[in-house]
Amino acid sequence: MCGIVGYVGKQSASPVLLEGLKRLEYRGYDSAGLALWEKGGFEVYKKTGRVEVVGQLVTKAKPASNMGISHTRWATHGGVTDANAHPHVSFDGKLALVHNGVIENFATLKRELSSKGIEFKSETDTEVLVNLIAYLYKSAIDEGSERDSATLLTAMRAALAQVEGTYGIGLICTDLPDQLFGARKGSPLVIGIGRKENFLASDIAAFAGRTQDVVYMHDNEVVHLRADDFTVTTIQDAAVAPVISHIDWEVENSELGSFKHYMLKEIFEQPTALENAMRGRFSQDGSTAQFGGLNLDARELRQVDRILFLGCGTAWHACLVAEYLIEKYARIPVEVEYASEFRYRNAPMFRNTLVFVVSQSGETIDTLEAQREAKRKGFRVLGITNVVSSTIARENDGGIYQHSGPEIGVASTKAFISQIHIAGMLALYLGRMRDMSFSEGGEIVKALKTVPGMVAQILTMADQIEAIARKYKDYEDFLFLGRQLMFPIALEGALKLKEISYIHAEGYPAAEMKHGPIALISPKCPTLAFAHKGEIFKKSLSNIQEIKARKGPVIAITNAGKEFPDGLADDVIHIPECHDIAMATLSVIPVQLLSYYIAVLRGCDVDKPRNLAKSVTVE
Ligand code: M6R
Repeated sequence: MCGIVGYVGKQSASPVLLEGLKRLEYRGYDSAGLALWEKGGFEVYKKTGRVEVVGQLVTKAKPASNMGISHTRWATHGGVTDANAHPHVSFDGKLALVHNGVIENFATLKRELSSKGIEFKSETDTEVLVNLIAYLYKSAIDEGSERDSATLLTAMRAALAQVEGTYGIGLICTDLPDQLFGARKGSPLVIGIGRKENFLASDIAAFAGRTQDVVYMHDNEVVHLRADDFTVTTIQDAAVAPVISHIDWEVENSELGSFKHYMLKEIFEQPTALENAMRGRFSQDGSTAQFGGLNLDARELRQVDRILFLGCGTAWHACLVAEYLIEKYARIPVEVEYASEFRYRNAPMFRNTLVFVVSQSGETIDTLEAQREAKRKGFRVLGITNVVSSTIARENDGGIYQHSGPEIGVASTKAFISQIHIAGMLALYLGRMRDMSFSEGGEIVKALKTVPGMVAQILTMADQIEAIARKYKDYEDFLFLGRQLMFPIALEGALKLKEISYIHAEGYPAAEMKHGPIALISPKCPTLAFAHKGEIFKKSLSNIQEIKARKGPVIAITNAGKEFPDGLADDVIHIPECHDIAMATLSVIPVQLLSYYIAVLRGCDVDKPRNLAKSVTVE
C-alpha cells in the first residue's frame, strides 16, 4: 500500500506535499514523512501516526524548499516506528527515497550491501533499495562519472534491474537541485504536469485542483522531472513518448459537514449513491437496464454462457450478490472467486466466459492482477469500479462506473450498496436478453427505482439501531446468519463489525450453523439473523428458535412485519417489504448502522481502523 507524493516547482513544497499526503491517507496511515531538498542536504521530517502529526513538525519548522518527496505508510517490512517511516536516506546522505511496494529479494541485497560495510538504520526493504542506488551512484562517481542526472539514472536503472518485487518510487539527490526521479513496477505512479511545476504521486487525487494534465506511468518506466520539463524512459533506457490525459476533476464533496465520521456520512449518502448508479441506465420503454461502457453488443452478450466475478473483501461480497441475482434472473451460471486466489490458481475456464472484476478503488492489487491474468488468457474483462480512471478501469475492456462519489471511510458502505444495485440492474439487462418477459422487466425496473426511497426510510431508524448497539457493544463474539441472498449480507455484516469495532464476528448460511458454529452459541455470543418473507421464512424462524433454545441473544432483521413472531428475538429491526432484486440493498443498511454505533460506543477510530488501509495495493 502506501502513498507517495513528490513536487518540484516554484512553490514552497511542504504544503503541497502535506495536502497530497492527506488525500492519499486512504493508502495507509501508520506513519508519514517528508524529505525536502536543501542546499547541501535534506531536511527530513518523519513520525509514526497520521499525516497531521508530521504536518505539525513541518509547520513549526517552516521549510522554504521548492522540492521534495513524501510518503504515508502502511507497514509491510518492519514495525510501525519512526525509524521505519519513509523517506529513507542513503548511507552517505546523498539520496532520499519513498517507496510503495515490496522488494521481495531485500534480504539477499541487504546481505550483499552489508558485506560492503553499509550500515542500516531501519528494518525496511526500502532502505535496501536507496542504499543500493546510492552505492552504484557513488561507485560510478569514484570511477570518474559526473555528478549529474545521467549518472543517477544509470545507477537507478542498474539497481532496479536487480530488484524482485513491486515498486513505485520517488527519489531526490543532494547533488541535483530541482530534480526529481521516479520509477514504477507493479505499484501505481502518475505524473502531474503543471505550469513551471511538476508532480509525482501514487494517485491523481494527490494533486487534484493543481493540474488537469496527467501521465499514467507504465510498469518498467523511469521519470526524470524538473520544474519545467519531464522525460520518461524505460528501465532499459529506451525513450517513451508519454501520453498526456486531461482530467476533468469532478468537484465532489469530501467534507464531513455535520457528520461525526465519514462512515456515517457515507451511510447517509446511500440514497444518492443509488440514484447516481441508476441515472440514465434504464431503457426508454422502461423494461430493461442499459450500460454505455460495456463495449459489447447484444449479440456478443447473448453468446456469454458463464460469468466469473472477481473481487476482494466487501467487493467479493458484492460478487456473491451478483451471482445470486444473475443466476436467478438471467439464468447464466456465475462463479465467484477471491481475486487473490484466482490469480495464482490457473483455474480451467469455459470458452464463452465473461469476466467481471469489482473494485471500489480500482487499485486493489489482487483484483488488478486477477484482471491481468484473465486478459492474458484471452478473456474479455469488464469492471464495476467507483474511481474513474483507476488502474483497473484503465486496463479493462469496458465496464460500469458506480458514480458513488468519493468513499473516504475505510469501511466500504455506499460503494457496496451501489455495486449490488448495479448487480441487480445487470441481472435485469442480461435476463431481458434471454427469457425474462417485457412485463417482468418492467416490474423490476419499477422496483429498482423505489429503492433509494426505501433506503432513506430505513435510515430514519438510526436512533433505534443506536439503542440496540448500546445493548450489544460489550460482547466480544458475534454470529451473522442469512440464507441465500442474505448469506453475502451476513458475511458483509460480520466484516463491517470486525473491521471497525475489532469484535470477532463470523457470517454463515443459517442452515450451516448446525454443522459447527452452533457450538459457539451461548449467552455470551449474540447472533444477528436475517428472516425475510419467502419460501425459507419458516426455516429462518426455526434457526432463530434453535439459537434461543441455547440461550443465545438474537437480533433479527426482517421484512415480515407482523408475521414475525412476537418475543422470538431479543431485538427486531423491521425493514420494508420489497422485490427480491432489492432485498440485499435494503438489508445491509441496519448492519452498517449497528456496526458503526457499536464501534463508536467502544471508542474505536471508525474511519481509520487499526491495521487497515482503504486501498490494498500490496499482496
Ligand atoms: O477498493 P476495493 O473495492 O477493491 O477494495 C476491496 C477491499 O479491500 C475492501 O472492500 C475492504 O474489504 C473494505 N475495508 C471493506 O469495508
